[in-house]
Amino acid sequence: MWQVSGAHGHIDPDEAVENMFSYIDTGFTTWDLADHYGPAEDFIGEFRRRLADRRGSDATAGVQAFTKWVPSPGPMDRTWVEENINKSLRRMSVGSLDLLQFHWWDYGDERYLEAMDNLGELRDEGKIRHLGLTNFDTDHLQNVVDKGHEIVSNQVQYSLIDRRPERKMAQYCQGQGIHLLAYGTLAGGLLSDRYLGQSEPSRATLTTASLNKYKQMVDVWGDWDLFQELLRALKRVADRHQVSIADVAMRYILDRPAVAGVIVGVRLGIADHIEDNARLFGLELKPVDLDEIESVLSRSHDLYRAIGDCGDEYRR
Ligand SMILES: NC(=O)c1ccc[n+]([C@@H]2O[C@H](COP(=O)([O-])OP(=O)(O)OC[C@H]3O[C@@H](n4cnc5c(N)ncnc54)[C@H](OP(=O)(O)O)[C@@H]3O)[C@@H](O)[C@H]2O)c1
Repeated sequence: MWQVSGAHGHIDPDEAVENMFSYIDTGFTTWDLADHYGPAEDFIGEFRRRLADRRGSDATAGVQAFTKWVPSPGPMDRTWVEENINKSLRRMSVGSLDLLQFHWWDYGDERYLEAMDNLGELRDEGKIRHLGLTNFDTDHLQNVVDKGHEIVSNQVQYSLIDRRPERKMAQYCQGQGIHLLAYGTLAGGLLSDRYLGQSEPSRATLTTASLNKYKQMVDVWGDWDLFQELLRALKRVADRHQVSIADVAMRYILDRPAVAGVIVGVRLGIADHIEDNARLFGLELKPVDLDEIESVLSRSHDLYRAIGDCGDEYRR
């Protein structure tokens, strides 16, 4: 739901909330959002109210909303942490947050451990069902786990372009029973049929914050010619299975170790790819498909060496 924040085109609130019904009716029942994604938490609240009014309060039990808390650096005492969690509970109109994913900007400031202590208490008291992290690198995820915190997931950038999680993160998570939730899997839409055969887009034509963010990743990964080679390879795979490039890009990441889900951005009320995205659940990639994709990936730059571990781009 970053796509409703205002940096991806104008979203009409009423239309957006109505549009959410099409997703749950196709089986896309989990939403990913954050306290700072504009009206995202309010949309969840309004959607749950409409859902309960129309289909009965039991219907809301089939929908999950994973929010984040992305605090500015500062004191992390119990009162402050609880105030912020209460705000999300109110906005989302829930008694308990299904999953609270915690982000921290500065590892030099160890108050993230105090925040985790307080979030853990709130989980034990029922205001949070599960605790996760987002954009934590492996070392700091380990710090949190070593302090005894029960973490179910870490949300990280993970795509055919950005395979940093494969260096350290996935292995550590597997060993601890922690799951990865992947974002950026479609590189904002660059990894789709729409960009196949297109000349390199200028900044002016990249009309969403998401496209801008991931075009920078592509620039680190390789040049536009190599990216087009990747799209052509993905297209050959997609044609063999009668799906789209986007389906192949999502399936590839869903099949990776430790990955529990891929989070796909939707511009509610502006564009939808519901039917196409639902096809990925029937897609099974074969060794020949993976070899064809790897033959291009093996010629790209390593983002782990260029940028660092997961989330390091948020700490420079
Ligand atoms: N934890 C974090 O720091 C963090 C950071 C970024 C994102 N996220 C989460 O991840 C979510 C995903 O966002 P993202 O920015 O990473 O974008 P993304 O999922 O890589 O790309 C989303 C865009 O891909 C296009 N698309 C989707 N399905 C398609 C299909 N089948 N065929 C062709 N194009 C398709 C759509 O473009 P059009 O709308 O133009 O059609 C859509 O807006 C966010 O909403 C947010 O919840 C988290």
